Amino acid sequence: MPLANAAGKHIVTVEGINPEDGSLTPVQAAMVDESGTQCGFCTVGFVMSLTGFCIDDTAKTPEMGVSAVDGNICRCTGYKSIERAAMRLSEPPASAGGQSDGDRASCVPGYFAGIASRLKELHTTVADGTGHPLTQAVPTVVGGGTDVYVQRPDHMAETDSRPLLYDEHLRGIRDLGDHIEIGASATVTDLLESSVMQSVFPDLYKHLKLVSSTPIRNMATLAGNFVNASPIGDMTVWFLALDAELELAPGSPPYEGGVAAASADGVVLSQRTLNLKDLYLGYKHLAKQPDEIITAIRFKKPTSDFRFNFEKVSKRTYLDIATVNTAISLRVSSPHMSKGSTSPHRALTNVRATDTITEAHVSAGGVGPIPMYLRETSAFLTGKVINQETIAAANDIMQSEISPISDVRGTAEYKRLLLRQLFRAHFGELFSQ
Ligand code: FES
Repeated sequence: MPLANAAGKHIVTVEGINPEDGSLTPVQAAMVDESGTQCGFCTVGFVMSLTGFCIDDTAKTPEMGVSAVDGNICRCTGYKSIERAAMRLSEPPASAGGQSDGDRASCVPGYFAGIASRLKELHTTVADGTGHPLTQAVPTVVGGGTDVYVQRPDHMAETDSRPLLYDEHLRGIRDLGDHIEIGASATVTDLLESSVMQSVFPDLYKHLKLVSSTPIRNMATLAGNFVNASPIGDMTVWFLALDAELELAPGSPPYEGGVAAASADGVVLSQRTLNLKDLYLGYKHLAKQPDEIITAIRFKKPTSDFRFNFEKVSKRTYLDIATVNTAISLRVSSPHMSKGSTSPHRALTNVRATDTITEAHVSAGGVGPIPMYLRETSAFLTGKVINQETIAAANDIMQSEISPISDVRGTAEYKRLLLRQLFRAHFGELFSQ
C-alpha cells in the first residue's frame, strides 16, 4: 500500500489490539474458542478484519460478519472455524443472548476513543493530508495504487508521485437532479456506502461484492480503474453500461472550468468532457493526454423506466478477476409501469409483447483488447420489443463485435459462449417472466 494512502489514518498492528492486562479481546477469544487460529500469515489478517468489523458501523449480521474477512485467503486449511468466529461476533446484544455493545468496545484498547481527535489535530498540520503540494506538477499521479504498486513496486517506490486518493476536490457522490456525479477518487466502498447510489441501484451490494475484496474496495478509485484500461476492469464495464461521461482537467487543482495548462509536449489543456466509451483507443491506449486527469464521472440519473444488471464469471465467484464480465442498462417503455415513480425498482417482471426498449447500453470485458462498449448491439436493441427473438438477434450482432483471445482464463470459444449466456442472464434477471 502506498504510504500516502495512510494519510490521516491510525495504523494498528495485530500487537496493537492486545489488552494491557493480558486478556483476550472478544475477537481473539472467538478465534481461539472456535479453533479459528491458523498460521502466522493469515490469522493476523482475519483477527484484524474482524476487529474492524466489530468497531465500525457495519450491520452486525452473520452475512456481514463473514464478508468482513474477505480478502484474507488461507491456502492451506478451511474457513469453517473462522466463519463460526465471525458468526459469534455477529450475534445480537447480550440482552438477547449475544455480545453487548460493551463487548464491542473492548475489541480495542481504551486509547482508541481519543484517536479521532488526535488525528484531527495532526491533520491540520499536514496541509492537504497527502503532504504533497497540490499545485506542483508531478509526473505520476496515483489513485489508490492497488494495481500499479503490485505491477511495478520498485519503480513506484522510486518515483515521485502525487496521490489523489484523499484529494477532497475529487471525492463525493452527488445527486445533481438529472445526473449523478461521482468524484474521480471515489472508491468502490464509497459507492457501496452511498445513499445516492443505494437509492438508484437496488442490486448495488450484490453486484459490487463481485468486485475484488474489502481491503481493495476501500482503496481502489474509479478513475484508477478506468485509466488502468484493463480489458476486464469490473468498474469500467459497469460505468460503460451507464453511458458515463468523464470530466478531464489539467493535472493540478482546483480543476475549475476554463483552467488551461500546457502539457509536457506543449499541448494546451483545458477542462473538457469525454464519454467513457471514447476513452479507449486500443490496448492500454487512451484518448487522454498524460498530463490530464479524470476529475469526475457523471451519468444520467436512473428513473422508473431504468433497468441495470451486472454479470461476471471468474474461476472463483469472489476475490477473482473476471474471465468475462458484462453490464447492461435499459430504459423500457411499458404501458403497465407505475406512473409517477422516479425510483427504479424490480416490479417490471411480467414483460408484455408491447414492452419496448427505448435506450440500451451494453458493455463487456474479457472479449477484446479494451473494456468494450458494444455500440452495434446497443443500437440494435433500441426500439426493439423485449422477446426471445430480440435477444437472439442481439447476440448475433454482439458476437460480431467482440474478438476474444484464448488465454489462461479460457479459450476464445469459451468466452464467446460465456458472453452469450451472460447476455441472456441480464434479461433473465431483469425480466424474470
Ligand atoms: Fe495460514 Fe493457510 S493456515 S495461509
